[in-house]
Amino acid sequence: MSSIIELGTTILPPVRWDANVELRKAKMADVEGIYTLIKYWSERGLMLVRSHNHLYENLRDFFVLEDEDGHIVGSGALHLLWHDIAEVRGLAIHPERQGQGLGRWLALAAEREAKDMGVPQIFAWTLQVKFFTSLGYAVTTRENLPPKVYQECSACPFYDNCREIGVTKVLDTDQAFKKPAV
Ligand SMILES: CC(C)(COP(=O)(O)OP(=O)(O)OC[C@H]1O[C@@H](n2cnc3c(N)ncnc32)[C@H](O)[C@@H]1OP(=O)(O)O)[C@@H](O)C(=O)NCCC(=O)NCCS
Repeated sequence: MSSIIELGTTILPPVRWDANVELRKAKMADVEGIYTLIKYWSERGLMLVRSHNHLYENLRDFFVLEDEDGHIVGSGALHLLWHDIAEVRGLAIHPERQGQGLGRWLALAAEREAKDMGVPQIFAWTLQVKFFTSLGYAVTTRENLPPKVYQECSACPFYDNCREIGVTKVLDTDQAFKKPAV
């Protein structure tokens, strides 16, 4: 139905836009598909590239969307950081499946998991602010997030030139992080 996509150096498999999709937790066999999807978008400056090592170590964070032809067409993760905060990361939808509600589905799965685990607040670093605000996140300043959320920043290639914006959603007001009074 569609031709091979070859932009940058990453080639994604062609997928059918109308194939049925299943949402589930990731398995070891999904790593290559997740890696390729994230690499595709990182080559376009929209995401941080994630190594195979990172994906193996963090695979239990991930959800995937698998279509009926066996293609991984979406990924997303919930990464626990501290007792009061978790990061939604690794959200990537195949370019031929954009705008079909799949990103929303993954983000809501991560949010559901956070709620089930009693995590009171979730956040993301992103360039896709409207996507997140449409899901009830609010733009926040760095000072309003706990220091733990910067743990990966020092190793980031964009450390000196970060364009990402923090967005956050409070799930439990009483337990969520509050900036210490000065
Ligand atoms: C951002 C991304 C995950 C969104 O997934 P998607 O499946 O295309 O989005 P959805 O169809 O679920 O859209 C959900 C809502 O967000 C909006 N939206 C999605 N992408 C948007 C964008 N780039 N700009 C503005 N709004 C956007 C949609 O209009 C929709 O709002 P609505 O329900 O009010 O109409 C996807 O575009 C993607 O993979 N982008 C490249 C990688 C990336 O930037 N990842 C985010 C890293 S934090």
